[in-house]
Amino acid sequence: MKVASFFAGVGGIDVGFEKAGFKVIWANEYDKHAASTYKLNFNNELIVDDIKNVNTNDIPDFDVMLAGFPCQAFSVAGYRKGFEDERGNLFFELERVFKEKKPQIIFLENVKNLVGHDNGNTFRVILDSLKSAGYHVKKEVLNACDYGNLPQNRERIYIVAFLDEKVYKEFEFPEPIELTHTLRDYIDYDIKQDDKYYYTADNCGFYDELKDKVKNPDTTYQWRRVYVRENKSNLCPTLTANMGTGGHNVPIIYSSTGIRKFTPRECFNIMGFDKDYKLPSNMANTHLYKQAGNSVVVPVIERIAKEIKNAIERARTSYVRKMVV
Ligand SMILES: C[S@@+](CC[C@H](N)C(=O)[O-])C[C@H]1O[C@@H](n2cnc3c(N)ncnc32)[C@H](O)[C@@H]1O
Repeated sequence: MKVASFFAGVGGIDVGFEKAGFKVIWANEYDKHAASTYKLNFNNELIVDDIKNVNTNDIPDFDVMLAGFPCQAFSVAGYRKGFEDERGNLFFELERVFKEKKPQIIFLENVKNLVGHDNGNTFRVILDSLKSAGYHVKKEVLNACDYGNLPQNRERIYIVAFLDEKVYKEFEFPEPIELTHTLRDYIDYDIKQDDKYYYTADNCGFYDELKDKVKNPDTTYQWRRVYVRENKSNLCPTLTANMGTGGHNVPIIYSSTGIRKFTPRECFNIMGFDKDYKLPSNMANTHLYKQAGNSVVVPVIERIAKEIKNAIERARTSYVRKMVV
């Protein structure tokens, strides 16, 4: 099935769908830095422009629409303005496209807070829009640590809309799976990283506090303005898009080479990108941290995409069986 990816970022959703056997043929992303990372890893057409400038007629026909549309408007950390916010309005750019192109399947990803925003009105608008265009919708909030076998606490809402009611009826979100992976599967605690990742008495005003609290190599810590927070569950906290900008919100670990923050590569690892996913060597870390935090946990996407594929196959098989009978 042919896939078009909107608000593609670095293509985390695209990777998950490709692993499940779908083929991405077209993508759109307006941030030139994210687009550079995307281009290093995909060969499909990528339109680097504001979605508002993309003419629907210029998009090739596709079967599946993917969109982790901008969530700032809905996130707890954002302004809670929903559709009044310029970024909230971007959903209607998707609506413009799906009403005309009528893909068989629409896959949307967003922050969990989308559901409760404005007493549920924002979410209702989205569901009504999909339903009035003829789609049957299923939705679920899944946490990466429960559904992706990946030690990150990241709850996101996944919305899957189907034109074909038979496929909709066959589709179920994946079941939870045991978390067997640990931080050590994604972070190398023994390798010496570049000095800029380490906290020392010379470069950090709160180093004494860090030295006092950051002692357990099996978990992550965060500097919260005036105190050190330990993530006791041995999970990494939700990586966020503002990780690399000011503050000290990149997770901190106690490694054998010192107290340090995650590198951008480690952030991509802990989003479930394979080790061979390429990161541009000449890109500032602020961009890379942002790209990782903006992305998705790939194994969760892959599991949902596989369920979509299974549902399509089951619906087709039952149709063929009925024809034979
Ligand atoms: C939440 S991120 C999605 C990231 C993506 N799912 C991934 O795996 O990297 C939203 C993306 O939408 C892009 N974006 C925001 N406004 C846009 C617009 N008007 N036109 C095109 N892209 C836009 C942002 O640059 C950002 O990369």
